[in-house]
Amino acid sequence: MIPLEETDIRTKELIMTADKYILPVYARPPMVLDHGKGAWVWDIAGQKYLDFTAGIAVNALGHGDEGVVEVMRTQASKILHASNVYHNEWAPPLASLLVTLTQAEGGLGYPANNPAPSPAPGAKVFFANSGSEANEGALKVARKVGKSRGPADGSKSEIVSFESSFHGRTLGSLSVTNNAKYQDPFRPLLPGVKVGKVNKTTGAELEELVNENTCAVILEPIQGEGGVNAADVAWVEKLVTRAREVGAIVIFDEIQCGLYRTGSLWAHSTWPISCQPDIVTMAKPLANGYPIGAVMMRDAVAEVMTAGTHGTTFGGGPLACAVGYHVLSRLSERAFVSHLMETSTYLLGRLEKLSAWYPELVAPKIRGRGMILGLVFKREGDPGRLVELARERGVLLLTAGKDCVRLVPSLNITQAEAGQAVDVIESCLSVME
Ligand SMILES: Cc1ncc(COP(=O)(O)O)c(C=O)c1O
Repeated sequence: MIPLEETDIRTKELIMTADKYILPVYARPPMVLDHGKGAWVWDIAGQKYLDFTAGIAVNALGHGDEGVVEVMRTQASKILHASNVYHNEWAPPLASLLVTLTQAEGGLGYPANNPAPSPAPGAKVFFANSGSEANEGALKVARKVGKSRGPADGSKSEIVSFESSFHGRTLGSLSVTNNAKYQDPFRPLLPGVKVGKVNKTTGAELEELVNENTCAVILEPIQGEGGVNAADVAWVEKLVTRAREVGAIVIFDEIQCGLYRTGSLWAHSTWPISCQPDIVTMAKPLANGYPIGAVMMRDAVAEVMTAGTHGTTFGGGPLACAVGYHVLSRLSERAFVSHLMETSTYLLGRLEKLSAWYPELVAPKIRGRGMILGLVFKREGDPGRLVELARERGVLLLTAGKDCVRLVPSLNITQAEAGQAVDVIESCLSVME
């Protein structure tokens, strides 16, 4: 064991080196993570933390999962990368698993808990390396569909996104991420992006927003970064109906809320078919932290994409897809999902008590569902203060939007871990009060 004094020096040295050589685009606390196991992480000074951030909704199976490690070891020793010039052993099974699970559990136009008609309409997957890149792919597909459906002048090219959305940092995905702080320094962005309000833009405003020139509508069923804001099914139905009227592609960004985080495969899996998208994007938990992203689309949309129309060097590589296949197989086990929902019910119950006990600080309604939950604060600055106080007491949390603390732990946390996190949050609230 390294003496505390020395490790403190090591922490300082690393942070100073980071300050000197790493582009300062992140504001990070003064700690250096060393390793993790399950829902726990340790820094290089030996301090232990209960991780309710899970790498920003990524480590669905927790840290240091032995199954994931074994798949990585085996696959890395076989073949790591060979490019998309060739097929590999794992991209086809992972794409097939994504489509067949969606057909069985609902989403992308397939009904939930209801076997899809036989033969079921097909779907195709494009593999990328991140969430932003998945959204870029989805927007490009929608643009191409717009060209094939719209007039020859290419005017069916506008994209509709929503206030407080987060779709990524690349120029295309940033253009649909309606947040001045992220967008303003980089203007001009993609032209033809129009912005609506989730659950609010209806009637004539909706008709103006989504019109004949619209090729794509992109929506997070539950906004993550924006503050754990869920879209109402009744409003989504109006939005999707309008998009269908004008022949616009509906993209659901399930990068943060998808892949069982809400307790179903997709946050929209249980929604009526009339509220379902043409394209779903995913990333974060698919390989439990190994970089991967994917775009899944209905065959009717996929048919515009032919050889050479899109691509990437690393996407769909054998290592990422082998891990993805392993992770998705485990997440989709019934026992895994029911454990997640039981823990979520317990966590939600405990969080609801906090709002009753600290009414001056915490708003009554907990946002989100499953393992994407938001504790809403009444006073500006309190979310950041709670995150700091909780970290000092050994629990890692995230803020979201202006008023919210986001809980996105690993999907397999125990009830005892959920209880421990809430105990610490409560002790912080009593300090804040
Ligand atoms: C909903 C959503 N979309 C897109 C992204 C961007 O993903 P990435 O950071 O992997 O590019 C994020 C990241 O937080 C996200 O939450």
